[in-house]
Amino acid sequence: MEDRIISANLMMEDTVMELSLRPRFLSEYIGQSQVKENLKVFIEAAKMRKEALDHVLLYGPPGLGKTTLSNIIANELGVNLRTTSGPAIERPGDLAALLTNLQEGDVLFIDEIHRLHRTVEEVLYPAMEDFALDIMIGKGPSARSVRLDLPPFTLIGATTRAGLLSAPLRDRFGVVSRLEFYHIDELAFIVSRASEILGVTVVGEAAQEIAMRSRGTPRISNRLLKRVRDFAQVRGDGIVTHELARSALELIQVDPLGLDGIDHKMLKAMIVNYRGGPVGLDTIAATIGEESQTIEDVYEPYLLQIGFIQRTPRGRIVAPQAYRHLGYPVPQQFGQPEDSGQTESGD
Ligand code: ADE
Repeated sequence: MEDRIISANLMMEDTVMELSLRPRFLSEYIGQSQVKENLKVFIEAAKMRKEALDHVLLYGPPGLGKTTLSNIIANELGVNLRTTSGPAIERPGDLAALLTNLQEGDVLFIDEIHRLHRTVEEVLYPAMEDFALDIMIGKGPSARSVRLDLPPFTLIGATTRAGLLSAPLRDRFGVVSRLEFYHIDELAFIVSRASEILGVTVVGEAAQEIAMRSRGTPRISNRLLKRVRDFAQVRGDGIVTHELARSALELIQVDPLGLDGIDHKMLKAMIVNYRGGPVGLDTIAATIGEESQTIEDVYEPYLLQIGFIQRTPRGRIVAPQAYRHLGYPVPQQFGQPEDSGQTESGD
């Protein structure tokens, strides 16, 4: 399932591409206008005062550009960026080593910050608040704490699960920004920009087609662009026309809303086997042979986001628009006329 082309999680094949396509300054960064405008002011103010930028927490679904933004912030500030992640910092000493190697004004980026060990997190509190490191020397009754000064720095934390952060950690971020799913026009812009960097011609309608199927996520649109480019090279003359994009995306089984075979399988099982629900997560999982946790973390968020399923205390329900999308009649309990309407998918 991690191999799904429409997974928003970072895969090995994305890393090289993301590095080459990644915007380096705010002016090149498309979308997230509110977050961008705010950051622009805070960065400018910090530079004017010659101070470190306040600590920044970026949260939201995967693939929307949290890492990219932190690179941009360091670039705009003209400082070094040190990158690590919550699970990579195993012991308090690992974090202490990172902190003591920072230079004044540097940015320390901690991805998946919700996965920091508790003992490590406690080292972070005085570091964030007072730019200080409290070290215990000795053991037992003679143990004493020594405070080391750190250079002023900016911590950027990124998380997909802001709700899992402890309150003391969350409260120490001066800037808290939520990244939102991108609009189709923004994604089309991102696809066009990426195609220029990759040196492939993508007509406007094709960029729009890729954007529509990208689940609001640039990481997915870049990945789809790469696959469509392969088809253009092998089956066409290298130019990504609208028709070529559409047929390539059909062939790799990403439908007009960005749903793939697994989404279809799950929705169909809910409609056919359970009359659209309510049906419990564990029952769905058993029916389609997946883990409940995988369904909850991976498949369900986008289906919830586009309103195709709803969560109720009695289980999941399939919404009328999902019936239409899959080409099933909408049941009368939804209070609408019987709908034989096919939609774009007609699957
Ligand atoms: N590539 C990935 N995300 C991007 C963004 N937000 N702006 C420009 N290019 C991108």
